[in-house]
This record gives sequence, structure tokens and C-alpha cells, in this order.
Amino acid sequence: MATQSGEVESVEAAKYAALQVEIEECKAEPGTTLDMLHAVQRQFGYLEPRAVGMVADALGITKAQLYGVATFYTMFFFEPKPPVIARVCVNLSCHLRGAQDILHTLEAAATADRSGFEVEEVMCLGLCEQAPALLVNEVAVGQVSAAEALERVQASVAACNEGG
Ligand code: FES
Repeated sequence: MATQSGEVESVEAAKYAALQVEIEECKAEPGTTLDMLHAVQRQFGYLEPRAVGMVADALGITKAQLYGVATFYTMFFFEPKPPVIARVCVNLSCHLRGAQDILHTLEAAATADRSGFEVEEVMCLGLCEQAPALLVNEVAVGQVSAAEALERVQASVAACNEGG
């Protein structure tokens, strides 16, 4: 019978192996540094240090140089994140149509223990005609109440917990 730590190690090993495949594919093309960093984040949910080292080795640069590139961009995470990120637009159109209610509702729920999601304020998602709008991971949600937004986020967290 496999132990839980053995299963975790096996999952981690599979992630490194999958990343190595992506790195090899990217190496064949010039200018794919960001693609490799995205691959790390896809596999690990953030720029996991050992994986960043694999990319740095493939590029023939130091990890410090690679982090120097990554820190220029806001889309990379440097610490583990919960599986669901809710990005709430707080720009004018959304503000006028209840973004603060959504933000406060989600923040209150996110700080409840083990909520499984994190809330970020963002400035305009390009969905102004659907204000108030938010992104639940990559899924756009518009014209929702605070309660509906929370339901969407919780459904996404539940789906992640079920492996979906
Ligand atoms: S102002 Fe909220 S999506 Fe543009």
C-alpha cells in the first residue's frame, strides 16, 4: 500500500518530469523564457525554486538572473497560492455597480480558515459592459451580486478540491 508521502513524492516527480518535457520543447525556439516560466507556474502554481533552477540551467543563466526577469511581471507568483484566485475589478464602472460589496464579501470569506481561495483587486478587466466583473481563475464573471460571486468562487474551490 502506498503511503501518503510516497504519493506526494510521485506527484511532485511527475510535475518535474512534465516540466522537463516543456523545457525541452521551448529550448528549441528562441525567446521562450516566459513560456518556460509559465510552464513552471502551470505545474506548481508558482515559481517553485527547484523548477526555476531547471529553467535557468536550460537557458544557461543563473536563478538570480531568471528571477530578475520574472519579478518584472505581475503574473508570476513567488510563493504557493491557493488553487483559486478571485480578481475583483474595482475600477469606475464596477465600483459604481457594487464592486466593493463583492470585494468585501469575498475578502471576508477568504480570511475564514481554509477557504481555498485568495482575493485580489484589479483595475479593469475589459468587461466594463458587464460590471461588476471579476475573474475566477481564468473565467470571467459579470453582472453578479456579491452573493452570486461568492457562490461562483466557492464552486470553483469545490471543483479544485475534487481534482477538477
Ligand atoms: S471597470 Fe470593471 S471591468 Fe472595466
